[in-house]
Amino acid sequence: MADKKTFYITTPIYYPSGRLTIGNAYTTIAADVMARYKRSQGYDTFFLTGTDEHGLKIEQKAEKQGIKPQEFVDKMVVTYKKLWKSLDISYDKFIRTTDQEHVKGVQKIFEQLLKQGDIYLGEYTGWYSVEDEEYFTESQLAEVYKDDDGNVIGGKAPSGHDVQLVKEPSYFFKMSKYADRLYQYYQEHPDFILPHTREKEMVNNFIKPGLEDLSVTRTTVSWGIPVPSDPKHVVYVWIDALSNYITALGYGSDDDSLFKKYWPADIHLVGKEIVRFHTIYWPIMLMALGLPLPKHVIGHGWVLMKDGKMSKSKGNAVYPESIINRYGVDALRYYLMRALPFGSDGVFTPEDFVERVNYDLANDLGNLLNRTVSMINQYQDGLVKPVAQDQDDFGKDLMQTAQTVIANYKKEMDILHFTQAIEDIWKFINRANKYIDETTPWILNKEGKTAELARVMSNLAESLRIIALLIAPIMTRTPVEMYRQLGLDWHNDELKQLEFGACAWNTKVVADPKPIFPRVKPEEEIKYIKDEMARAKPKKQSRSEQGEDKEISISDFDKVKIQIGKILSVEPVQGSKKLLQFQLDFGNGDERQILSGIRQYYPNASELLGRKVLAVTNLKPRKMLGHLSQGMLLSSEKHGEVKLALVGDEHEIGAQLS
Ligand code: MSP
Repeated sequence: MADKKTFYITTPIYYPSGRLTIGNAYTTIAADVMARYKRSQGYDTFFLTGTDEHGLKIEQKAEKQGIKPQEFVDKMVVTYKKLWKSLDISYDKFIRTTDQEHVKGVQKIFEQLLKQGDIYLGEYTGWYSVEDEEYFTESQLAEVYKDDDGNVIGGKAPSGHDVQLVKEPSYFFKMSKYADRLYQYYQEHPDFILPHTREKEMVNNFIKPGLEDLSVTRTTVSWGIPVPSDPKHVVYVWIDALSNYITALGYGSDDDSLFKKYWPADIHLVGKEIVRFHTIYWPIMLMALGLPLPKHVIGHGWVLMKDGKMSKSKGNAVYPESIINRYGVDALRYYLMRALPFGSDGVFTPEDFVERVNYDLANDLGNLLNRTVSMINQYQDGLVKPVAQDQDDFGKDLMQTAQTVIANYKKEMDILHFTQAIEDIWKFINRANKYIDETTPWILNKEGKTAELARVMSNLAESLRIIALLIAPIMTRTPVEMYRQLGLDWHNDELKQLEFGACAWNTKVVADPKPIFPRVKPEEEIKYIKDEMARAKPKKQSRSEQGEDKEISISDFDKVKIQIGKILSVEPVQGSKKLLQFQLDFGNGDERQILSGIRQYYPNASELLGRKVLAVTNLKPRKMLGHLSQGMLLSSEKHGEVKLALVGDEHEIGAQLS
């Protein structure tokens, strides 16, 4: 027997740094839908996902919790795997970049590239965003902060995250050497990057301006894979992470049979912000290793909220668990695959979600099943007869719709256009609902037209069977329940029977059909989702949670010098929404400038002139937005209201708190 065709699909590997949102779930569900679809089409499919566990971001998170990075990621991975299980993600392998097999593979790759001269030692100076785990030159920064002498002292990455200056010895990858070959590859493989607009972005923004050599090691990070021949360096987290797509298949190990079988990948599915890593650095690494390139890198859009990107601190993040627990896994899978046209961004709103649950799932699909099974019970004692050969015009039209939808569905699913594929399925669902209105089975029953009635019931049951098969890659539980209610056994290879009339029937439906998607009350549910979002917003840690209610000794307190200062002047800092700049008199000629982030609480700051305030005066001076701050004003905070710690005139300027 000839070998089955293979299909290898990957998700990005996630940073195990925080809770996964429905945005992260989107990527993995989309890959799962494709994997399930391809399996059903007879492909020998390998679906890979996993976690990207090294780097500064993880190191810092672990440190904050006072635990070792390995312990931290071990804990996180358990929660990630649990989530994927509850979303019915059918991955074949979950790779962790701390797996020994991966570590060895990366070391081998690095040493080979070093040996052949594609990697060389130099010195790196530039800006690093820990959140993005990405390097930037000064000109690439979205914002720069300068001191009074014009030196850049900080800034923000295009993502809005802070950057820090990095200056250290580093190994570099000769990206520039491969730029022409990469460009040529794009030309010869126009579907390498999809959607096509993303290819233009890569060419215009990165390849045409000239590729710079990439810093591929760090000496100031310890949580990473050491370079075997120079172990004070660890491999840059992106080089480490990208390699997962081949080390997961055993590349570089003793057993590379999976690699031989599945590489090159058919699809790397990634979010649009990481397309660059997958279409520039990764292909160049592969070229240098002499390996074939993945067939497609597909950059999908983001699940956005009305007020932009989902973020925990904004309190607009939606977590999959809160949706799954209340509406079931299929409602979430369905919504995400339907609401975001592939490649584009889409906005999640609780209103839209609830509407889709009620209209698409409860009304259109749920009612069709419930009405059909109930009628078959009522009119035919539960028995479904085989689909009739001769059909009237309504029946013919229904069958024609089925055929067209099946054909379109395959075309759409093959290119990951899940939204359109779902729209096609719903055309068929609506056609079947209309068929009930057209054929009026209750009248046929009244008039005793049993043969006609049986034909209608079989057509409806057969339509539902086809619908169950079509939605199976997208929704995992619903088709099984539909089959159960229709009195059929669910087999995963049923897609072979994706043809109207392919089922023999002569079986009985269940006697007590329950609605598969109960209708929900919109206001209540919208409130539920909004409350869940608000609940997930991190509360400001109280002092006791931060361990600050620990007892301290008097000598601890004596270390802090708190003095009374009089406000001489106050004005906002240009370019900052937060900062006010104070000049204060601390007596005996000690005049100081102190910056404080309280601008929003004092819109009429001049009212503070002449007031006396408490300030810490032995803090190390620091620059904020280029302005020196020589201390800290004390203030109190309750319920989000911030008030300066003002004191009465009976306190002398310069007097020290004790
Ligand atoms: N670790 C890297 C990937 C390395 S792959 C060799 C990384 N991890 S991540 O955890 O930050 O992101 C993983 C994926 O989640 C990305 O594809 C990203 O686009 C996706 N998403 C995160 N939030 C998202 C939305 N709100 N919407 C859609 N996808 C989003 O990057």
